[in-house]
Amino acid sequence: MSAFEIRDPSSIGVAFLGVGRIGRTHLQTLAGIGAARIVVVADLDPAEAERGREIGRAERSTSDAVDAITDPKVDAVIIVTPTSTHATLIEAALRAGKAIWSEKPIALDLDETARVVALWRETGLPVQMGFMRRFDPGYVRARRLIESGELGRIEQFRAYSRDTYMPDAKFIRDSGGSFLDMSVHDFDLARFLVGEVEEVSAWGANIVDPRFEAGGDVDTAVTMLRFRNGALGVVEMSRHSEWGYDIRTEVAGSLGKVVIEADRKTPLTWSRRFGFEADHHENFPDRFEVAYRAEFEAFFRTLADGGTPTPGPEDALETLRLALAAKQSWQERRPVRVDEVTAEVPT
Ligand SMILES: NC(=O)c1ccc[n+]([C@@H]2O[C@H](COP(=O)([O-])OP(=O)(O)OC[C@H]3O[C@@H](n4cnc5c(N)ncnc54)[C@H](O)[C@@H]3O)[C@@H](O)[C@H]2O)c1
Repeated sequence: MSAFEIRDPSSIGVAFLGVGRIGRTHLQTLAGIGAARIVVVADLDPAEAERGREIGRAERSTSDAVDAITDPKVDAVIIVTPTSTHATLIEAALRAGKAIWSEKPIALDLDETARVVALWRETGLPVQMGFMRRFDPGYVRARRLIESGELGRIEQFRAYSRDTYMPDAKFIRDSGGSFLDMSVHDFDLARFLVGEVEEVSAWGANIVDPRFEAGGDVDTAVTMLRFRNGALGVVEMSRHSEWGYDIRTEVAGSLGKVVIEADRKTPLTWSRRFGFEADHHENFPDRFEVAYRAEFEAFFRTLADGGTPTPGPEDALETLRLALAAKQSWQERRPVRVDEVTAEVPT
């Protein structure tokens, strides 16, 4: 392992890369985390970089990510640029000896992901990947209950994700498709809560928007999972939800079950004659606001304590492998064993 040491755990120097859709949310969150001191914000677009500097109250902005990564005042690099850039930027930060927090995924390609995992193992530097649902209080509690045996032997897993807003055509083309972009969060939860998956069988359909079919993708899907421990699971995905961001997970065991679903955004229920109404979450920034903050708090706490952050690059690799198996199953119309999807991790 590397001899990575934070100079001042109460003031960790940060380079923040990518002031886009989710980047602006993350910058606002980070600005409220005491241990993080944003030194530099980088975006290819200098105006966005400057806007990010203002949000994060950083010392400076730049349009050059490498300039930000190699800044001597920087201990940790936060990567929120488009997916296609993550592998290169993670490698640059590892080579510069920095700790890293990166949005998921490392890459959409298993070989490229494995190459980054190999370099990460070599350096032993702290790297945390942005699977934020693992930090939502509901999932944290569910995992504790499962680990402590309160649910008994796990028998079934069930999850669905329905998105409020349609992505644009460019996003559909570059996202790797709905299995890698959307169901990936539920696949990660399946691994987090139940364990590794042995085999998948997926169906996809185009019901909602013809742009998905034109982009070689599906807008609706169901993936069945057979876990190594014998449990069975189902992951449903839809690009369409008129009523808001719709996420639910259920794990059932021999002694009990847990359901993780935040179906009300506020404590308000408006009762009227023979009915009632409540507010629904609009999208991921409001549903997972607490989780986004908790994942950064955990990262900086782990850096200060000298521990190994989680989920790390190996989780990103195994969750990607599972998503690729589901995509292959849909494309080839057959069950696919997850170990069919192989990549050599260079030694
Ligand atoms: N975990 C989640 O809930 C969640 C939600 C949304 C997006 N994401 C992930 O976050 C990442 C960013 O998504 P987004 O929707 O904010 O993207 P976006 O396209 O809105 O923003 C990306 C920003 O990065 C900048 N950029 C591009 N290349 C750069 C480079 N080499 N150096 C510096 N800046 C660069 C762009 O100019 C842009 O401002 C993606 O990987 C996406 O998968 C995760």
